[in-house]
Amino acid sequence: MTATSHLGKPTSRVDGRAKVTGTAKYAAEYNVPGLAHGVVVSATVAKGRIKRIHTADAFAVDGVLDVFTHRHRPRFASSDESYQDEIAPPGSPFRPLYDDQILFSGQPVALVVAEEFEIARFAASLVRVDYERQAHITDFQARRGSAAVSKQHEVPPPRGNPTAAFAQAAVRVEAEYRMPVEHHNPMEPFAATAVWEDDGGITVFDKTQGPQNCRNYVAGVFGMPRDKVRVLSPYVGGAFGSGLRPQYELPLAVLAARALKRAVRVTLSRQQMFTLGYRAANVQALALGADSGGRLASFRHDFVGMTSQFEDFQRNVVNWSSMLYRCANSALGQSLVKLDHNTPCDMRAPGGAEGAYAIECAMDELAYAAKLDPLALRLINYSDRDQIADRPYSSNALRECYRQGAEKFGWSRRNPQPRSMRDGNELIGWGMATGIWEAMQMKASARAVLTANGSVEIASATADIGPGTYTMMTQIAAEMLGVPLENVTARLGDSSLPDAPVEGGSFTTSSVGSAIHAACRAVQEELLGLARKMAGSPLAGAALDDVVFAEGRIWRRDDESRAVSVADAMREGKAERIEKTATAEPKEDGKYAHCTHSAVFVEVKIDEQLGVIRVTRVVSAVAAGRILNPTTAGSQILGAVVGGIGMALHEETAADHRFGRFMTHNLADYHVPVNADVHAIDVIFVEERDDEINPLGVKGVGEIGIVGTAAAVANAVYHATGKRVRDLPITLDKLMRE
Ligand code: MOS
Repeated sequence: MTATSHLGKPTSRVDGRAKVTGTAKYAAEYNVPGLAHGVVVSATVAKGRIKRIHTADAFAVDGVLDVFTHRHRPRFASSDESYQDEIAPPGSPFRPLYDDQILFSGQPVALVVAEEFEIARFAASLVRVDYERQAHITDFQARRGSAAVSKQHEVPPPRGNPTAAFAQAAVRVEAEYRMPVEHHNPMEPFAATAVWEDDGGITVFDKTQGPQNCRNYVAGVFGMPRDKVRVLSPYVGGAFGSGLRPQYELPLAVLAARALKRAVRVTLSRQQMFTLGYRAANVQALALGADSGGRLASFRHDFVGMTSQFEDFQRNVVNWSSMLYRCANSALGQSLVKLDHNTPCDMRAPGGAEGAYAIECAMDELAYAAKLDPLALRLINYSDRDQIADRPYSSNALRECYRQGAEKFGWSRRNPQPRSMRDGNELIGWGMATGIWEAMQMKASARAVLTANGSVEIASATADIGPGTYTMMTQIAAEMLGVPLENVTARLGDSSLPDAPVEGGSFTTSSVGSAIHAACRAVQEELLGLARKMAGSPLAGAALDDVVFAEGRIWRRDDESRAVSVADAMREGKAERIEKTATAEPKEDGKYAHCTHSAVFVEVKIDEQLGVIRVTRVVSAVAAGRILNPTTAGSQILGAVVGGIGMALHEETAADHRFGRFMTHNLADYHVPVNADVHAIDVIFVEERDDEINPLGVKGVGEIGIVGTAAAVANAVYHATGKRVRDLPITLDKLMRE
């Protein structure tokens, strides 16, 4: 890279002003002429079939344009493949309004479209459905015995002889940890505004993390050529994984727009957002054996999760335990129970957040059993290699995370005895955990255009769901082309732009950032070529690595006085604009494991009489390669820590299994942390240089901030109270129960 004037610098969001002034538009805010409004009618049973659907009353309401049902709809695709999006799990994807089968409570059964939203909502309330009910099974805990191994995730075979090693271990811990269903609750509800074009094409503003994933889905479902479908999501008000797959507002808005030949918007209510995918409830059984010095001898980790009847969704939950700590004997298991719910989906660090909760709580229990400090236990079992593939990490500053995090937190002042620290009426607890997440990179393309007046436009199809992708793209282009940030315009969230994956998995900066890096490098090459050709050029014979692009000029690294202005080079070379599109792909030589790491330290204060838990301090020390923007990356970790607090103490989607329905489907009953629940959070980015991973040396952050946080909170609660609650969320009733 060239000298750094933008990369690594704390930089406010380039789209911040648009967001706070309201000029940034979200999917439900595009007011196009002739817009009609669709409201979804949701099934009230969890399993069965629709015998009859009565729509006459809804049709009779003044202003109603149409009522679509499985009996009254345009034709669309019937094969599973047509509905399989880019990240669909194995199985048969749900098809809205396809047939009379009810697969989960809340499934859309009709779409009422009217001139006004209020009319559509009223008319939707008049639609009546006669069901033939069938017995449903929705209770995960009651059915966990029926779990089966799924096709999607295979676990590595056992290492060594874990059973024998466990039997012989001097110190043993066996415990079972539970998590409930959780729903993503982004501020922005799901919505799609579908605009019918006169040429039969369709343009959709959708709330999605992947405009191209949605474009391809719409093309598949409606049998349209991809170039007749354009999906845009320039701004997304949070998603946390819920917008990775196309959700049903999208095909419903498109089918209505195509049928009515006008623009149609479908917005889901907060309640209906609880009918989409979710983080699956799970039970994890762990058995850890160690010698008297705390050295791990055996590690068993068995996960049982849940999925729908029609798709097998799961992520890697258990591999982390066999990867992270040095242990000669290990065994892993993952299986799923099929239930009459919608399919779960990715939710913030999917798999990693769940796995680390159980692994890091079990490690805490082992520390007490072995009479060791929890941090000391992690260091005793530290591995600088990925234990599963037996390969080194491309970089790994986890030790430094432990050291800097502990120092900032004041961990050395911890009294190891549970219930030993207090502040007036409150018990104080200090807990810690390790975090690990895969540093992924996907194939992605980007375009860079430099104009002779010094302005730059960069573009890629991926969405910015909030982490600051516009800003990161702008910084990279400004850095590489030597222009101020203000000269750069970033475009994204549009399926017509160069190909890019969904924004997810914390892989956008590594993937799209690398593509922008490559596109800008191609522009640099052409610019340098023009500069070299200038009469008497001071850059004659210079190679790209010999020069620096900065302040609108190109100069020799070894002699700054030998410089050419970019404007002059373009003028003399008669280049009005230089446009380059490039694709970056991950290195896949398999030599290294690529991971981000963290150490999380948490203080809780718990009212001794009432059991009220406050997370008063969190220190999250993160190693994630090069941090391009400490401001936006820091915000990612802050937000993810808050998510971890929610996972530990608040979030739970409760179902009423008599109806097979999620009942806590609003923000009064589904608790997420609010400002009053969030106190001091310190984020440390530990320096980690990675020359191997990609030219920018970035791994990406976001999800790593939630991994380990819930365990650190749970461990702090144990340290405060001496009571081990192994069932999230840790609510005061569980703490007070004998
Ligand atoms: Mo993330 S769960 O990949 O949006």
